[in-house]
Amino acid sequence: MNKKYRRVIIAGNWKMNKLPSEVKPFLEELKDAIPEHTPGCSIVLCVPATHLASMSREKHRRIGIGAQNVSQFDKGAHTGEISVDMIDDLGARYCIVGHSERRADNGDTDEIVNAKVHALLNRHITPILCVGESLEQRDRGLTIEHITYQVKAALYGLEPEQVKKVVIAYEPIWAIGTGRTATDEQAQEVCFAIRELLRREYSAMVSRKVCILYGGSMNAKNCAGLLAQPDIDGGLIGGASLKVEDFAVIVREGSRAE
Ligand code: 13P
Repeated sequence: MNKKYRRVIIAGNWKMNKLPSEVKPFLEELKDAIPEHTPGCSIVLCVPATHLASMSREKHRRIGIGAQNVSQFDKGAHTGEISVDMIDDLGARYCIVGHSERRADNGDTDEIVNAKVHALLNRHITPILCVGESLEQRDRGLTIEHITYQVKAALYGLEPEQVKKVVIAYEPIWAIGTGRTATDEQAQEVCFAIRELLRREYSAMVSRKVCILYGGSMNAKNCAGLLAQPDIDGGLIGGASLKVEDFAVIVREGSRAE
């Protein structure tokens, strides 16, 4: 497989952190800390919905705006929900879907995740689809089976042309926020398996085009090894995306990995 068919994506996931008023100073600092040009490497920040307007106001061509969740419904009687049109209107070009925290805390099932992927693609917003196994599943040797199921379910009913536009993030649950990252080999093995699945289900062309990220305790120290893997096209970064210095190191490494 050849990385030249894909761009690198370094995406931060702020989760439920920072205040809207902290967006501006963060972006100002970040802009100074990252290279002026990062051709082939897209930088994205997925922020809480309340921060999207500030992100839009401070918008910088080098940094793409991402949401962390969206409703599967178009509009109407869904109190507390936020629609694809709403995040689109605020400038979001990416949206995380199926993060394990939402699957665990908010009951996002594979069916719901699939509906959200469809809703986003219909509006030309890039879904960052998260999949990942629990420690128990890994210990029982069920990792690839579980990931295969999650990817197939999330992409159900999409045309191959749409699948090419989905970004898939492999995030082993046991590595998220634990400081225990997957080894380069463990991460590569699963990302390769996802690419093989896409080749079998769709085509070699689709599988070559889809960006596959790794997420789970990626940081300034361990990013180089992970980003050097042939089937890892970037990172989805939680904790380390909250500090400019750390995130900037990962961005610089991503720019080299293209
Ligand atoms: P951490 O980088 O904090 O482990 O979080 C990873 C993650 O869940 C990104 O979506």
